[in-house]
Parts: sequence; structure tokens; C-alpha cells
Amino acid sequence: MAKDFVCTHEIIEAAHRAWSATTWDYVAGAALTETTLRRNRYALDSYAFLPRILRDVSKIDLSAKVLGQTLRAPVLVSPMGSVGLMTPEGVKASARATTRYGTIQTVSSVAGQDVETIAAAASGPKIFQLYIRGDMDWIRKHLNRAKAAGYIGLMITVDGPYYGIRERQLIHRWSLPSIVDPSRHIQASVTWETFAEIRKHWGGPTVIKGIATAADAKLAVEHGVSAICVSNHGGRELDHGRGTLDMLPEVVEAVAKRAEVWVDGGIVRGTDVVKALCLGANCVGIGRLAAWGLGADGEDGLVRTLEILESEIFNAMGLIGATSVAELGPQYLTRVVPMGPTHETSAFRHLGPEALR
Ligand SMILES: Cc1cc2nc3c(=O)[nH]c(=O)nc-3n(C[C@H](O)[C@H](O)[C@H](O)COP(=O)(O)O)c2cc1C
Repeated sequence: MAKDFVCTHEIIEAAHRAWSATTWDYVAGAALTETTLRRNRYALDSYAFLPRILRDVSKIDLSAKVLGQTLRAPVLVSPMGSVGLMTPEGVKASARATTRYGTIQTVSSVAGQDVETIAAAASGPKIFQLYIRGDMDWIRKHLNRAKAAGYIGLMITVDGPYYGIRERQLIHRWSLPSIVDPSRHIQASVTWETFAEIRKHWGGPTVIKGIATAADAKLAVEHGVSAICVSNHGGRELDHGRGTLDMLPEVVEAVAKRAEVWVDGGIVRGTDVVKALCLGANCVGIGRLAAWGLGADGEDGLVRTLEILESEIFNAMGLIGATSVAELGPQYLTRVVPMGPTHETSAFRHLGPEALR
């Protein structure tokens, strides 16, 4: 039962037990040498806190405002494809969990269920993440459906003109239906002009996901985005990219509060969330951690994951002397050398890479 999980270690182990090796590697794996994946962790581990003491931290407000929505904590669920592999209920389970918990669900256009089904399953705020698989007529049709189904925002993921070479999947001789679909190559011809046309048609808040440099962040702001999601797709596309926490400060500076800045990549601990917020993010996204919650016990497993993450955020904020997310800033951080090797589960001391093989 999900309520019996006392920490995320147990959730990850339960997901590992529940899934086939193929599903585990689909979720946990990344591109080629998985250096980008490990750099996400390395970047997070390259900061230590500078705690302030003897402040009244008996009350801590974790709520955050994102795209006009008040979230229970500054964490939302990043878009993921093929959620049906993680839990039989698929993305419906995820949307119900985020609704129950009180945050935003981003819904991938390759999540495996249509936008109307997901909208009917859960009333909480949802953002539609589109992969471009057709011409403007195709795009307009999909945007209209998401709009009619009440999605509050559109997210365009821009870091995957080509699908990353994921060797764990190749070694399993396994690929997703959406990957063999030849129309996915259309994504490779998408430009800022296409982006501008899409944004105009959508007419509501637009999030650009997959920004990795200050130069592209500036262009995104010029194109009128509501939010920039600093992301390297969890290391699943370009190998040998930077860790997202190493990209975040320059993007925050370039954006200069003209749009919200979100970040995802390697966030699995409350301290990770607090570090990202100290560096200027408005909120963070979780990918694999949410997947593991779903794998452990579907909707309930994800709610429990979010609750445990929240308790870690609360604890970290209290221990550094901050009582609201607005108070967080670079004054709480210093650069350090990370402790030991980093890998996809190195934030979980008791697991070790071998425990999950
Ligand atoms: C199994 C899986 C499927 C994903 N599918 C998508 C997707 O359909 N669209 C998208 O924009 N990003 C997708 N991503 C990337 C996530 O949205 C997010 O950027 C990434 O997982 C963040 O890193 P983290 O997993 O370390 O938290 C996927 C990630 C995973 C793990």
C-alpha cells in the first residue's frame, strides 16, 4: 500500500520489482554514454547549503504560483510518453494523482491516451505537451482538441529534433511504437517560425521546454513565451550536454523575470528542489521520480511520492532558515565538489547501481 512507503527509496525498489527490465531501462536510461544524465545529478550535487539559524521557521509556506495556478508545492509532473508501461491506468493515473495532490500535470502527446480521456479523468490543471508529427493543419487540429478539453497551457518540447540514441533500448531490441512512426521526423524541420505560428494559434500560455542556453532563452522571451523550461530531457536526447542546474543561472539572468523559468532533470530530492529555487527557478518538474511513483502503486504511489518529496522540501527549507519559496535565493548556496560517483540513483544511498540491475 502506498501509504506504507516511508521514503522514496522504497518507492523506487517497488517500481523496480513491478516492472520488466525493458520498462525499467526505458524509464531510467538515457542517450549513449548517459553522461548528460549523470551531469544532471552532478550539477545538483555541486551545491551545498549555507544555512541560517535562529529564525522562526515554525511556519513554512511551500505554495508556488505557476501560470496563474497556485500549486501546493513548487513541483509539477513533467511530460512522459508511454505512461501505460509504468502503470496499467496510464497517464490518467498520473493526472488523478496530481489533481489529488494539488499540482499541474503536463500531458505528453505521446502519453498513450487522448487528451479528452485524460481531461475527463481528472479535474486538476493540465498542460498539453505537443510533439510535432504533421503539417499546420495537423497541429491546429491537436491544439483545438486540447483547448476544447480545457488544458490551461501548451508546452512545446524543442530539444528533440531527432530521437536520442538510447542504448539500453537498443540492447533490449525494443522500441516504442511512437519511435518507429516515420512522422516523428517532421520534428526535425521545426523552426522558430513554426513555433511562432503555433503560439499564435494556441492563443494562451505557452511553455517552451528544452532550453539549454541563454541565447535561446532570449529568443524564447522575444517570441512571447509564458515560461521557459530549462531541460535536457533527462539526458535522453543529446549526450554530453550540461547538467540543468549548470544552465539555470544564465537562463534566469537572460530572462530577467520576463517569463517564468522552470527546470527539470535529475530532481529526486527535496534538497534538489530547494537548490533549483535558490538559483531562480519558479518551479521544478519531475520525470523519473514520478514514473517510479506510478510504477510502485499507480495513482496512490505518485501521490505518496509527491507527499514524501514535499516533506523533504519542507525539512530542507526549515533547516536553512527559509519560510517561503519567495525567500529562496543564491545566498543559501555555495559551490562544492560532489561526493562520490553520480548515476541515476546515486541520490539514494541505500540502493547503489547494482541493486537495481
Ligand atoms: C519515460 C520518460 C518519457 C518521457 N517522455 C517525454 C515526452 O513525451 N515529452 C517530453 O517533452 N519529455 C519527455 N520526457 C522528458 C521529461 O519530460 C523530463 O524532461 C525529464 O524526465 C526530466 O528528468 P528526470 O527524469 O531526471 O526528472 C520523458 C522522460 C522519461 C523519463
